[in-house]
Amino acid sequence: MIRVKNAAEIELMRKSCQLAAKVLVMIEPYVKPGVSTEELNKICHDFIVKNGALPSPLNYEGFPKSICSSVNEVICHGIPAPKQILKDGDIVNLDITTTLEGYFGDTSKTFFVGTPKPNAKKLVEITKRCLEIGIEQVKPNARVGDIGAAIQAYAESFGYSVVRDFTGHGIGKEFHEEPPIPHHGKAGTGPRLREGMIFTIEPMINEGTYKSKILKDGWTAVTQDGKLSAQFEHTVLVTENGCEVLTNLKT
Ligand code: MF3
Ligand code: CO
Ligand code: CO
Repeated sequence: MIRVKNAAEIELMRKSCQLAAKVLVMIEPYVKPGVSTEELNKICHDFIVKNGALPSPLNYEGFPKSICSSVNEVICHGIPAPKQILKDGDIVNLDITTTLEGYFGDTSKTFFVGTPKPNAKKLVEITKRCLEIGIEQVKPNARVGDIGAAIQAYAESFGYSVVRDFTGHGIGKEFHEEPPIPHHGKAGTGPRLREGMIFTIEPMINEGTYKSKILKDGWTAVTQDGKLSAQFEHTVLVTENGCEVLTNLKT
């Protein structure tokens, strides 16, 4: 069942989402060559706790850290580690989810470490645009499939592929609610969007094959061909006329 949120819940979702968005701004200056993903995890963890929230990934289905950090060919769910030192030219997605007053906010961004290589720069810029194009589809009476269809057409026009094994998701008092939001598919299919629905859009776009595999740690999803993958994520609310991006930082 797809839950529609009431005004009080929407206000609580706004708060959690704004905190998650603040984490991404706060962490940016630390994402530099020489930093470990463990250090980034610790800084985010402490900031989230100081702001009265919990880092949702920690202990979620056994996930061992407070954020996901996905470097280069890692598609998603990378586990921060002290021995993983970021180097010039890497790309790294930091995926932040907060639980504030029982409500989840979920957002992620792919950062450049130092100076990006031209192919990485192009992939990341187009992936960011894929998220924006997905968001542009969101309004009452549109269908879930419209989002994926628009993203897929744009990504594939550059020769990129769209990851199928992971999707966006409804979100609220649970981390992952109905419906799944695929980032590929057919326009005019899937559930109809209604005012008050809240879900994430989080396209993972690959340079090569869309196929993924999970490493032995049971979490880290990587591209099967070892080529780069990038991702951006927002939590969005369907409004009367379109949508509100709850994880866009309000000034
Ligand atoms: N934040 C991720 C998402 O966008 C989920 C992370 S689950 C975890 O859905 F367990 F890896 F943290
Ligand atoms: Co996320
Ligand atoms: Co998500």
